[in-house]
Amino acid sequence: MKRRSVDIGVMKPVQSGFKKTKGEFALVGDALLLARAADLNSDFEQINPYCLEDSLTPRIAAELAGVKIDPDLIMESFNKLKKKHQFMIVEGAGGILAPLTDRLLMADLIVMMGMPVIIVARANLGTINHTLLTINYARNRGLNIAGVVISSNSPEKEIAENTNPGLISELGGVPLLGIIPYLDELRQKDIIQAVDDSLNWEIVVTYLREVKSKQDSNLVQKDRKYVWYPFTQMKDWVSGNQIIIERGEGTFLIDIDGKRYYDGVSSLWLNVHGHRRAEIDRAVSAQLGKISHSTMLGLSHRGAIELAEKLVERAPDGLEKVFYSDNGSTSVEVALKMAFQYWQHKNVKNKNKFLTLTNAYHGDTIGSVSVGGIDLFHQIFHPLLFKTIKAPSPYCYRCIFQKEPDSCGFACIDATEELMSRNHEELAAMIIEPKVQGAGGIIVQPPGYLSRIRELCTKYNLLLITDEVATGFGKTGKMFACEHENISPDFLTVSKGITGGYLPLAATMVTGEIYDAFLADHRERKTFFHGHSYTGNPLACAAALANLEIFARDNIMEKLQPKIVYLSDKLKNIANLEHVGEIRQSGFMVGIELIRNKKTKEPFPIEEKRGVKACLAARNKGMIIRPLDDVVVFMPPLSTEPEELDEMIDILYQSIVSVGDDN
Ligand SMILES: Cc1ncc(COP(=O)(O)O)c(C=O)c1O
Repeated sequence: MKRRSVDIGVMKPVQSGFKKTKGEFALVGDALLLARAADLNSDFEQINPYCLEDSLTPRIAAELAGVKIDPDLIMESFNKLKKKHQFMIVEGAGGILAPLTDRLLMADLIVMMGMPVIIVARANLGTINHTLLTINYARNRGLNIAGVVISSNSPEKEIAENTNPGLISELGGVPLLGIIPYLDELRQKDIIQAVDDSLNWEIVVTYLREVKSKQDSNLVQKDRKYVWYPFTQMKDWVSGNQIIIERGEGTFLIDIDGKRYYDGVSSLWLNVHGHRRAEIDRAVSAQLGKISHSTMLGLSHRGAIELAEKLVERAPDGLEKVFYSDNGSTSVEVALKMAFQYWQHKNVKNKNKFLTLTNAYHGDTIGSVSVGGIDLFHQIFHPLLFKTIKAPSPYCYRCIFQKEPDSCGFACIDATEELMSRNHEELAAMIIEPKVQGAGGIIVQPPGYLSRIRELCTKYNLLLITDEVATGFGKTGKMFACEHENISPDFLTVSKGITGGYLPLAATMVTGEIYDAFLADHRERKTFFHGHSYTGNPLACAAALANLEIFARDNIMEKLQPKIVYLSDKLKNIANLEHVGEIRQSGFMVGIELIRNKKTKEPFPIEEKRGVKACLAARNKGMIIRPLDDVVVFMPPLSTEPEELDEMIDILYQSIVSVGDDN
């Protein structure tokens, strides 16, 4: 590269088996070879941050030397060198799966650096298997493979050495960049000459040009040019500084510049066990190796069947059948259509309306918007929606009956009963987000509310649909929110956390009574004519099964309980702030309502966007959260450790303080 006038920077992040001596050229071993080849005689600390004496795999060599390999330090050095040079060559150590620490493999470092990989393989017998395994693993980790270089390791050429390189290239689907002949002595000059003579420079240069042009292409500009984001005023988006996420790690999101952020809303209420959870990664990879999608219209597959069994075992009693779809809105859509059709089959033709709550959110398709109750999102679509009957939301902090929770006598329930008693002949079902109305502002229902709703639905012959798209899979402190009051609905919808936040999947679970009403001879037209292309996708089912397995094996719900108490305790400081009206918490779902006046509960003028500003402040301090108007939502993954919670709540506190009137 150097001979071709390319300004090349080099790095050997970790090497073992060499002892560093203080000298004029303070590099040794491979690092020295690299630096000399590239004609570099400065930045030695950055070129080789870790040099370990024992000739062992880096993790062990470091442990024996009492050294802690710090990936942040490696990345800092890498970024400095990268800024200085046109191209970088980083030499690995011990192969792609070589461990650098107890949590970091060589492959992780390559992912962090975002570099394409050149695999160097030997030529003789056995190399096909090794090299193809390396190629496979690199691909699974999403790495770009620039090609394979064969380095001959013996002077005699057996047949295998002539045939292996071609086979590796063919079977691995990667270009062969060249075959470097065996050298008796490793003299720098000879090595460089041998590489120069043997590499296919046309492939190398074309590839590097492509990589460079991809790196240079401005993602931010392309983003502004091509993408339209959900629930986003694009006028603001295109003028703002947006974060582009490249990868995740446990509780962290990491952007294309390597900056780390706490994921304070579990990637919009989905992520349960953290990002890159090994068991779920493996389950999805294993399924990829079998089939990625097979329709459920006319065929079945193992994952869908096994997952249905597990969901039925885990869900509230009485829910016996699982109907799959692929997002929360469709799971609600399915429940609404099924509830309507159920009454048609029962010959109760006028039961065709739904009772819903104000402040409800059930998704964005027309049916789910019809049963929603958030004017900001739903008002504009009014002419398109079917009519529903709206009961008052149990929003105790802003009780429309002007009552206090301890003495209200459930005025909102009385009003709901009144609506049921007047309209039950027309009402097919009531739909409710149990325990917490999420998008309405994390409105937590008072104890006893949910069981009263269940009783009333039974009394007035309404089906009960509990939408657990947001609350399901542990977020309220119970696996399903219905468990807080031991109720069983007629329909239960789930999505978001069902795959641990990995892949789109949803399910509408129903009782045997509902299912049976659809059983008939084909000519009776009682089939449920509904289904989506990606219904019950096998990859998503594999992720969901692994997700449920972690819940069971690791006693997640049990372990969560002390963390919930810890979280409540930590939130007290925030509750005391003058511009915080109320903190509502159910398990790991937290809503912090910002207000202008604590006594009168006067809200801030909407145009002041205090919630948005608090979330921007949090982002600048390293945590992603998202507001619902002036309710700041905090919903970390259930896997978040107490020390992480400490830091996250610290950021939350400072961010909220920063949008008070005193600042
Ligand atoms: C309670 C509830 N139902 C339904 C939905 C819609 O889910 P999706 O966005 O997957 O369509 C949401 C999304 O936030 C939700 O909170």
